[in-house]
Amino acid sequence: MQARERILIALDTSDLEQAVGWVRMLSPYVGGFKVGLELVHAAGFGIFDRLHEAGAERLFYDAKLHDIPHTVARAVRAIARMGVWMVNVHASGGRAMMEAAVEAAHSAPKPPLLVAVTVLTSLSSQELREQVGTRRGAVNQVLHLATLAKEAGMDGVVASAQEAGRLRRRLGEGFLIVTPGIRLKGESAGDQRRVATPARALRAGADYLVVGRSVTAHNDPAARAAAIVEELEKGLLSPQLL
Ligand code: C5P
Repeated sequence: MQARERILIALDTSDLEQAVGWVRMLSPYVGGFKVGLELVHAAGFGIFDRLHEAGAERLFYDAKLHDIPHTVARAVRAIARMGVWMVNVHASGGRAMMEAAVEAAHSAPKPPLLVAVTVLTSLSSQELREQVGTRRGAVNQVLHLATLAKEAGMDGVVASAQEAGRLRRRLGEGFLIVTPGIRLKGESAGDQRRVATPARALRAGADYLVVGRSVTAHNDPAARAAAIVEELEKGLLSPQLL
C-alpha cells in the first residue's frame, strides 16, 4: 500500500461546506476521510453523496454501532448502500453482533470494510472495572476484544499506536489496525493522551492513520498532509528510519 493511501483525514466539523472544502483540497494527498457522529448529525446522511461528489473515494463512517445483531446487520446493509468504504462497530456488542455485521457487509454489492472499536481510549482501567466489571486492565481488554473481533470475521480494529504493536503480534498480518491520535514531532497533544508520530504509528503496526487537527487546524492543510506522506514514504523506503 502506498503511503498516501494510509492517511485518513478526520472531518471533525458540523459545517458541511467546510467538510466539502477539506475533501476538495486534500483528496490528492490522502487515502480517504473519516466522517464522525458530529458531521452526520449536523449535515444529515446526504453528506456521503456530497463528499463522494467532491472527490472523496474512500469514506470511513465512524458510526460505532452497538445494538442487537438484527438491527446492526440492517444498519450495515443501509450504510453499504451509501457507498461507504469502511465502517465500525463496538466489539463489546459481542460475537453474534459482529458476525451479523460481517454477514450483512459480505452480502452487499459493494462490501464495506468492518472494523471494531475495542475499549474507548477515554476509559481508564478503573472506569472499565466500573463499566463492565472486568478486572482485566484496559490493554488486556483491548487484546481480548480484538481477538473476538477477528474470530467473528471482522476486518480489523481501531487502536492507539501504543496498543498497535501488541495487537499486530497477537493477531498477525492482514488484520487491519486503524490508528488515531497522530501528532507530528513537536506538536501539542491537545486532549489526546496516547499520541504518536505518523512514522511511529506505522512502525508499531498501524495500516491506516486517522489524522484530524494536525492537518485540518493547520494554516496550510495541504502542505501539512504532503509532509506526513513524505515522512511515511521515507520510512517505507528505509524502514530503519521509521
Ligand atoms: O484531531 P485528532 O487528530 O485528535 O482527531 C482524531 C480523530 O480520531 C477524531 O475524529 C477522534 O474522534 C478519533 N478517535 C480518537 N481516538 C479514538 C477513536 C477515535 O481520537 N480512540
